[in-house]
Amino acid sequence: MSYELSIVVPTLNEVGNIELLCNKISAVLKEINWEIIFVDDNSADGTKELLNQISSQHQNIRTIHRINRTGLSSACIEGMLASNAPIVAVMDADLQHDETLLPLMFADFYKNPLDIAVASRFAPGAELGDFSAKRELLSNIGNLLSRMVLKARLTDPLSGFFMLRKSVLHELSPRLYGKGFKILLDIFASSKRPLNFIEVPLKFNTRHSGDSKLDTTIALEFIGLLCHKLFGKIIPVRFILFSLVGLTGVAVHLFVLTLFHIVISTQFIWAQTIATYIAMTSNYFINNSFTYRDKKLHGKRLFLGLLSFYVVCSVAAFLNVAFASLLYEMNINWAIAGTAGALIGAVLNYALSSMFTWRKTKP
Ligand code: GDD
Ligand code: MN
Repeated sequence: MSYELSIVVPTLNEVGNIELLCNKISAVLKEINWEIIFVDDNSADGTKELLNQISSQHQNIRTIHRINRTGLSSACIEGMLASNAPIVAVMDADLQHDETLLPLMFADFYKNPLDIAVASRFAPGAELGDFSAKRELLSNIGNLLSRMVLKARLTDPLSGFFMLRKSVLHELSPRLYGKGFKILLDIFASSKRPLNFIEVPLKFNTRHSGDSKLDTTIALEFIGLLCHKLFGKIIPVRFILFSLVGLTGVAVHLFVLTLFHIVISTQFIWAQTIATYIAMTSNYFINNSFTYRDKKLHGKRLFLGLLSFYVVCSVAAFLNVAFASLLYEMNINWAIAGTAGALIGAVLNYALSSMFTWRKTKP
């Protein structure tokens, strides 16, 4: 059976939405041959079992099960790449995306030489539903930032509901960033040529059942995507994040040092030692949940990771001082020598911790 349209639906704990979604899709797509590809990341709420059951009953519904993986973008990419249809759609499982737009968007592909159709929450005629003021603000900021990396003037570059010509996906897939939440932005930013797009106004519904997976870390990942698109070719994004975390470490260090040395009059050497360890520890935990979110350490590994981070930091600090002193001995200006040492230290810290602390661990 060859399908004309594949609808990719990423799922993470959506058990209360799936049946209704399937029914709604099949009610609106009478004229064409379609399939649904669910991509589930080992949901713990019964979604997995339900998807198995539905997939075994319907030839045109199948599921990709991923184990020890998460990430909305990568789920969408893998679902789209698994499709054999000439056109693929991506939509949320939670019924926030109006399925009646599917046949309209599909028809557009035969009216126009389209690359992609985007359901927009901000196009004329769209409605946001009871989107909280905070989410709306976040969305607006996101839109603004997205324009920096976009070659197209989209009203809703963060939309999670769109339809794409498969040939376009194949054209740009090697360049996709693939991390985080913002798959549409990724698609537009990864295309070498401007994409031929249209926007259809979306009446954004309230989530039917379950909770949103969009949290603050996902907002931070979004910054990662922007940095990758802006500077990725020159400096690895992870290093930028690592350095930003390093700056928070400096602040923590000075705060603790002041507290111990000035406020409670601890001897400088002890205050400095305590401040160093607290700053390293804070850097470690922030890096673990932010910079290395995808390799996050838990339980016993979290503790061992901290020890290895102390070792890595000490080695990097030792080489930093050794290198800076060498330059200083060579009569190089103290500030330049110091900065060069610190830079070498930061790079080493990053390189060593990515090798030893957050190395690929078996799940
Ligand atoms: N497989 C998989 N893995 N699915 C995921 C993951 C994941 O790590 N995270 C989320 N999902 C699924 C959810 O189950 C849902 O079907 C869909 O992806 C979107 O997640 P929601 O939790 O419903 O996101 P939202 O409604 O808050 O966010 C919406 O607005 C964003 C723009 O602000 C969505 O439309 C997003 O796609 C959109 O980017
Ligand atoms: Mn949603």
